[in-house]
Amino acid sequence: MTGASEVGGAPPTGRPFATLAPMAEITDSAFRAVALEAGAAAATTEMVCAAGLVRDSKNTKPLLARLADERGFVAAQLYGHDPRELAEAARIVAALGRFQAVDFNAGCPMRRIVENGDGAALMRDPALLGRCVAALAAASAPLPLWVKTRIGTDPEHPAAALLARVCEENGAALVTMHGRFASRAHAGDPEPRFVADAVSAVRIPVVANGGVRSAADAASFLENTGAAGVAIARGAVGAPWIFGETRAALAGLPAPPPPTPTLRLKEFLRHLDLIERLSGPDAIVPAARRHLFNYFRGLPGAAAMRRRFQEARCAMDIREAARALVEELN
Ligand SMILES: Cc1cc2nc3c(=O)[nH]c(=O)nc-3n(C[C@H](O)[C@H](O)[C@H](O)COP(=O)(O)O)c2cc1C
Repeated sequence: MTGASEVGGAPPTGRPFATLAPMAEITDSAFRAVALEAGAAAATTEMVCAAGLVRDSKNTKPLLARLADERGFVAAQLYGHDPRELAEAARIVAALGRFQAVDFNAGCPMRRIVENGDGAALMRDPALLGRCVAALAAASAPLPLWVKTRIGTDPEHPAAALLARVCEENGAALVTMHGRFASRAHAGDPEPRFVADAVSAVRIPVVANGGVRSAADAASFLENTGAAGVAIARGAVGAPWIFGETRAALAGLPAPPPPTPTLRLKEFLRHLDLIERLSGPDAIVPAARRHLFNYFRGLPGAAAMRRRFQEARCAMDIREAARALVEELN
């Protein structure tokens, strides 16, 4: 596994890169392993509540599990707004010896998060954001601290440059800038010009996030922002090969062939096996319904297979439904 010290806080590459962005209930160790195998330069865990970690709540620790199969640069993401509690949580993460960076969530727009003063709420209080970042950076050492934030709370208050500067001045090693305002949540097109403002405001790497669904999207987002890399969230769900495609495109290499139904099935079954190893067989049916069906998105018969997933009682039903779809197509 790559040691954080070797790579100085950025994913282990000097070239433009693509990372797997954090997604709650999706970017567990199984998905991260698949994405890293497919060519992601780094990945981030699901968001983890700092208070829960400090109190050792039983739902929190499993979010930081890591399979031996997950090889590569992984950041553990924390959320919260109390600098002391965040620092304590970062020390717990660092002591696990399992991750290469700590990432701080300063952009989640979900109501229950914002109402608690966490996530995107910190964008309204740059001074508090700065204190959180400083506390986290000190407590995470020697691991680098990353911050994931947004271009502002709403279009009337663009703040990408200011927020990136606050992060840099307080010790962040990298900022992932989601190019949508918090008021837009995850809808609409990202706005690269605001991400570009952040890039020109700081010297640390800025990773552009939002709306990347293909290697071509990644290349144009980089071109329009000057960012060091892109972070891909929904575009990688059921499509980890986006990382191989993006890597090839950014290196000027020919595009790999598009995934055949057989390759999709192979990746799907591998992902399923990893989930089973990580969380047990009971985790498969919910994961298949929640996001794994996307491996077959767009194929004829995928809708019927998804209905079979809804009726599935066990992991075997899920595997059979997927195999039947691909057999019909071959
Ligand atoms: C289901 C889901 C869960 C997410 N969970 C997190 C999270 O835990 N932490 C975080 O910083 N962002 C989270 N995000 C935001 C993504 O990391 C990303 O910023 C957003 O989806 C925009 O990127 P995309 O257009 O490539 O999907 C989540 C997004 C989705 C769709």
